[in-house]
Amino acid sequence: MLTITTHNEQETEALGYQLASFLRYEEAPVILLEGDLAAGKTTLTKGIGKALGITRVINSPSYTIMKVYQSKTSNQYLYHFDLYRLEENNQDYDLEEYMYSEGFKVIEWPNKVPNVIPEHYLKVSITSISDHKRQIKITCHAPYCIHLEHQL
Ligand SMILES: Nc1ncnc2c1ncn2[C@@H]1O[C@H](COP(=O)(O)OP(=O)(O)OP(=O)(O)O)[C@@H](O)[C@H]1O
Ligand SMILES: [Mg+2]
Repeated sequence: MLTITTHNEQETEALGYQLASFLRYEEAPVILLEGDLAAGKTTLTKGIGKALGITRVINSPSYTIMKVYQSKTSNQYLYHFDLYRLEENNQDYDLEEYMYSEGFKVIEWPNKVPNVIPEHYLKVSITSISDHKRQIKITCHAPYCIHLEHQL
């Protein structure tokens, strides 16, 4: 496990950028984002999007469960899930199918769907320490991130 402290929104976004730059698109990585409301999950996702060359603004998909973004330059996909409003273990969506599809999958509030989370994932847990200070814990549960700790 790796613990990083950020002191503003920009640093959290930059961490997302670094994370995504380390991961390989071909591995179809799954990134779980844990943390309370306004912890900085979507902020980190913005950095991931930038690293993939996504120019559209990434915001919390409050009224949809998932938004998909495509990079115009690299043709890469980012699936951004926000499961906050989902009832626990809701089966109405084919979430499981998405988990194994091409591209980056970023999931806010993954605890809503424990049954759907694949065996391999990278987990990022954000804790708010004060107004601008965040403690960010990164845990790798996948072959594609085992060397991450030495890279960040
Ligand atoms: N170090 C920091 N990292 C990230 N965000 C920060 C930091 N300091 C302050 N903030 C503020 O905290 C808020 C984080 O919002 P964000 O939408 O990223 O949270 P979230 O975890 O996605 O929340 P939600 O669960 O509502 O989707 C923003 O208003 C941002 O400006
Ligand atoms: Mg969010």
